Amino acid sequence: MNSNNNLDRRKFLKLSAVTGLSAMIAPKLLLADDCDLTTSDIQGPFFSAGSPTTNVLADTSEPGTRLFISGKVYADDCITPVQGAIVDVWQANDSGCYSVFEQCTPASTNPYNLRGQMLTDAQGNYGFESIKPGFYLNGANFRPAHIHFRVVTPDNTILVTQLYFQNDPYISIDPWASDPSAAERIIPLTTQGDDLYGTFDIKMNTMATVGINDEELKPDFFVLHQNYPNPFNPETTIRYSLPLTSKVKLIVFNEMGKTVAVLENGTKSSGYHNAAWNGKDSKGRKSANGLYFYKIEVENEKGKFSQTQKMMLLK
Ligand SMILES: [Fe+2]
Repeated sequence: MNSNNNLDRRKFLKLSAVTGLSAMIAPKLLLADDCDLTTSDIQGPFFSAGSPTTNVLADTSEPGTRLFISGKVYADDCITPVQGAIVDVWQANDSGCYSVFEQCTPASTNPYNLRGQMLTDAQGNYGFESIKPGFYLNGANFRPAHIHFRVVTPDNTILVTQLYFQNDPYISIDPWASDPSAAERIIPLTTQGDDLYGTFDIKMNTMATVGINDEELKPDFFVLHQNYPNPFNPETTIRYSLPLTSKVKLIVFNEMGKTVAVLENGTKSSGYHNAAWNGKDSKGRKSANGLYFYKIEVENEKGKFSQTQKMMLLK
């Protein structure tokens, strides 16, 4: 693909976000008596706060089929557009890998690759350019291609949901995508040249419960992940996964082997967990620049495990 094409796409995005041009691509008549509010879906383990404000989620060199999603955010009457809603989007790359939490191939220079936040305009429009997400294994089965959304309106109504695509071979075996409540979120994609276009309107349910849990992926193994970011200043996140409910102790120690901070010390359920270290010791003093280690000790019915990783604090 050449740079002119990309420029045209950017223009399209800008236009569709400002003028609601997207409605011309997939016309949709909204009637108040046909007001199906957007259902929630699980957040999964790969949400990361602090994604950049952008509506171009994928670099031009990102492998995969270019995908353009646009739509409107409406209030719970399905008519009133919501201005200033934060639409926070995250997805896997073409081979099913999530940035921030995983080392993806090819590596991107953008640590928040395929993640972005945008604000809806006065007509409730949002739109972004990305690539069609790939599949990834969840236990024995692949999850269908999906894009995660977290929408927060100015009055703090929050909707966490996922977008799926018609004719995906894995929808029928996926417990979340095959749920009848997800039907409205399985959208058709239209092809224009080499690109795919889809429309996803979001109707906020002020009564919705936020669909946050970590059921999406159950870890099969105990893993202590590399902290992120690294090097870091002032704060970093340490992620670990437990196949079983376990007693967990997570400590930070320095090159002399002296414990600097205790980040976890108690029983944790199976699943993915995050612990943050703010670079301070147990008395709240800022630690010096340099190399630190974090060690997790896990005890459950299968036995005792421990793992240590390095991290670098920079000022
Ligand atoms: Fe996901």
